[in-house]
Amino acid sequence: MNLSSWFPANRQRCEADLFDLLRIASVSADRAYRDEVRRAAAWVRDALAGMSFDTELVETAGCPIIYAESPRVAGAPTVLVYGHYDVQPPDPLDQWISPPFEPTVRDGNVYARGATDDKGQMLTHIKSAQAWMETVGSLPINLKYVIEGEEEVGSESLEPYVKANRQRLACDCVVISDSSQFAPGQPAITYGLRGILYVELRLAGPKQDLHSGTFGGGVTNPANALCRMLASLVDGDGRIQVPGFYDDVVPLAKQEREAFAALKFDEQEFCRQLQVDGLTGEAGYTNLERRWARPTYDINGVWGGYQGEGPKTVLPAKAGAKFSFRLVPNQEPKKIFAALKKHLERVCPPGIKMELIEFHGGQGVLAPLDSPYMAAASRAITRGFGQQPVLIREGGSIPIVATLREQLGADTLLLGWGLNDDNTHSPNEKFCLEDYHRGIQASAYLWEELAKIAMASRVA
Ligand code: BES
Ligand code: MN
Ligand code: MN
Repeated sequence: MNLSSWFPANRQRCEADLFDLLRIASVSADRAYRDEVRRAAAWVRDALAGMSFDTELVETAGCPIIYAESPRVAGAPTVLVYGHYDVQPPDPLDQWISPPFEPTVRDGNVYARGATDDKGQMLTHIKSAQAWMETVGSLPINLKYVIEGEEEVGSESLEPYVKANRQRLACDCVVISDSSQFAPGQPAITYGLRGILYVELRLAGPKQDLHSGTFGGGVTNPANALCRMLASLVDGDGRIQVPGFYDDVVPLAKQEREAFAALKFDEQEFCRQLQVDGLTGEAGYTNLERRWARPTYDINGVWGGYQGEGPKTVLPAKAGAKFSFRLVPNQEPKKIFAALKKHLERVCPPGIKMELIEFHGGQGVLAPLDSPYMAAASRAITRGFGQQPVLIREGGSIPIVATLREQLGADTLLLGWGLNDDNTHSPNEKFCLEDYHRGIQASAYLWEELAKIAMASRVA
């Protein structure tokens, strides 16, 4: 059998394997799912071992990392595939049409938590290698896989693993499918991702809740203080007000703005899909610029005071919020955190004790557009999807990409097979099965296209 007949002959098997993995509830954020996380790790290891790859399940303080290597092909380039088998919590459960861990096909899509982020996309790079092994009997390049289980909680164990294994992970380039196409029928190569700084602010006022009639207006209300403090972080034009926040932001180049503007993006259609009657954002920037290439501030959760039925006149003793900044490539999360803390301490009113907790951070990235790897990826996608990809940036974050650049000196090809309406991190997550199969094919061709590149600085 040759490669091109392997794909149609193995459609069902590729889908069945994806569904098997989707049945495992590998939620990294919640300790209650730890056994399922381990089951998913073992599943990925077994899939790679079944193709006679050298595999290792690397124990960490958190969730295991799967490392694998294809049989060595002397003189051929080496590609590192990164993906994650962990998923976001499925809540709110009552909004799922079919249960999150019972993969269900409707209208050519498979619905399940992790379908697109990232089990389905990650698996395309395993299936494509399987296609080569089962037809040609070998790969045209050397593949290394790092599939982690903590991406959705900040890749805490993977960072030190990469730093300690630079030699082992050495490669010519990195390949990741954990992002999206530009639109249905319009595949894309993503050359930029935003970074992130995620924090929690906790405010404490009086020793206990108080009657808001007796004490209100005379004792600082932590919920009022919280609202003022959160509001102080941004002005009406969407400009972040933390002093120094924009110091390291590289302005968007004219050429890049023109390239974004040339993409077929319909704001009205975008609003219609999200069922909103208008959009806001930083003044002076288009919607794509705001989401892909400008730093932003979003409150992710806010609490304090009475949440039960009916009114309750109370002055709550505590209030808090989780919020995050999406950063652009040159911004340093640690530096932003320090500036944020200083600003919040300055605006925190008397009578309130504040605590600012730093969660995960990650640097944004930009990959060179003119590399031979980009050209190879473009050819492979054109072959797999029957459509030439456009170049885009995206607003999401994959913190390990910057680490891989820094530690291995390798750039990443971000080849997203998902769609923007896949409901990632939200109820009814889906992945288009046709895109799954096209992704497998594009990936299989990518190994071939990358093998063709005459490597000047090949990793021996
Ligand atoms: N796959 C996403 C990242 C992503 C989203 C890339 C959209 C491109 C477009 C990834 O699984 C994710 O959700 N990352 C987190 C990072 C965080 C947990 C450090 C994110 O972006 O919020
Ligand atoms: Mn992901
Ligand atoms: Mn995610």
